Amino acid sequence: MMSGVDSSSLANTMIRLHSVISRSIRVIQDGGRIFADESLYRSPLRRGFIAYGRSFASVFYAHLLSEEEIVFPYFRDRLPHAPFGLMRTQHEEMVPSLYAVQEEIDEMECGLHPVESLARLTEAALRLSRLWYSHVALEETIFNARALAATMTQEEDLLLSKLMAEHRLANSGPDYLVVPFILYTLSPEERAGMMQELPPMVTQQLLPGRWKQKWAVMAPFLSAQGSL
Ligand SMILES: [Fe+2]
Ligand SMILES: [Fe+2]
Repeated sequence: MMSGVDSSSLANTMIRLHSVISRSIRVIQDGGRIFADESLYRSPLRRGFIAYGRSFASVFYAHLLSEEEIVFPYFRDRLPHAPFGLMRTQHEEMVPSLYAVQEEIDEMECGLHPVESLARLTEAALRLSRLWYSHVALEETIFNARALAATMTQEEDLLLSKLMAEHRLANSGPDYLVVPFILYTLSPEERAGMMQELPPMVTQQLLPGRWKQKWAVMAPFLSAQGSL
C-alpha cells in the first residue's frame, strides 16, 4: 500500500478548501458589520456580497457533504482509530449556523435595510468560526499527506481527488459563481493547483469569458480580483 511519497492531492485539496472557507467566514462576518452602513447597503456592493454569501454557503455545505459521502466512508476501515463520529457531529453542529447565514443573505436580497438581520449574519458567522477552526485542525491532523500516503496508493489518491472535485461541482452552484469564488479566494500558488482539477474549457474559456460578467460582481470580496 505504501506509495513512498509524502504528498497527497486529496490532502492538498482538503487544505485548499479549508483555507477558502476560513477566509470567507471572516468576509461574511465583516459583511454583517460593513453593511450596517446604509449608504454602503444601498450601493452596488450589496449585490456582490449576496452572490458571495450564496457561493460561500453552497461551497461550505458541499464540502461537508463530500467528506460525509466520500472521504469518511473511504477511510473508515483504513484509519480505524480516526474519530469519524466526532467529525460528523461537528458538521451537524455547523449546519444550523450555515442555514442562518443563508437566511440573512435572503433578507439582504429584499432590499430593506434590516439592521437586526445584519447583526444576526455576523453572529452566525462568528458561531461558525468557533466550530470551524478546531474542526479543520482535527481533519488536517487525521488526513495529513503522510497518513494518506501510508494507507493508499497514488492512483487511489488521484482517483479520490477526482471524485471529490466531481462531487463538489455536482453539489454546489451555480458553477459560474462557486468556481471563481473558490479560485480567487486562494493565493496564486494554491489557485494554480486547484485549476489543474478543472477542465481547460472552464479555466481558459468560461472563467475569463462568458462567466466573468456574472462573477465579477463578487470581485471586491475576493482576495485576488480575478485578473486572468
Ligand atoms: Fe469536515
Ligand atoms: Fe473539511
